[in-house]
Amino acid sequence: MIDQLLSNNMAWASARIRADPQFFRRLSAQQAPEYLWIGCSDSRVPANEIVGLDPGELFVHRNIANLAPPRDMNFLAVLQFSIEVLKVRHIIVCGHYGCGGVRAALDKERRGLIDHWLQPVADLAHRHQTHLMAISDFETRVNVACEHNVRAQVEYVGRNPFVTDAWRRGQTLCIHGWIYSIRDGLLRNLELSVDRPSQVDELAARQWFPDA
Ligand code: CO
Repeated sequence: MIDQLLSNNMAWASARIRADPQFFRRLSAQQAPEYLWIGCSDSRVPANEIVGLDPGELFVHRNIANLAPPRDMNFLAVLQFSIEVLKVRHIIVCGHYGCGGVRAALDKERRGLIDHWLQPVADLAHRHQTHLMAISDFETRVNVACEHNVRAQVEYVGRNPFVTDAWRRGQTLCIHGWIYSIRDGLLRNLELSVDRPSQVDELAARQWFPDA
């Protein structure tokens, strides 16, 4: 039923034009999003929809387990473009509970290439193993690891040279760590926001025990 998607699209575009005849004309002139979203590829976490933003309002990067890997060209290109060209004012790292990527990094099963992609999450779990292994329920442990992962990615973004250069230039840029619950559709602010290098250091130094 792949054709259904194309007819859905026609209906969607017509509805948008009915509501706002200039909508696409305005959007095609330029995009000026204020937010960069770094989220998971999970189909249940549709970025624009859960924060109620229209096309043109959110610049989106998604990958498995919402990572911000310091040597991933795709991510780095998105990050640099969004900061230096689009001049986004906020970067939102959004994880989600029950993340299959985080679960796969914890369960030690071999899956192939994905194990390599998820290596940073496995390393992170190893660093927090005393805390994580004290949680007997596996799903709860996964959820706590999801929060640790958001915090780690906020730190990575906060130490990225594109970000620190922007701060040095005096550009306004705040990085946030949020987590989404697929069960109730609600986002939770993990209170990890940083908008200058000293806050990244404070975040890294802060003892932090998430309570998923
Ligand atoms: Co996920």
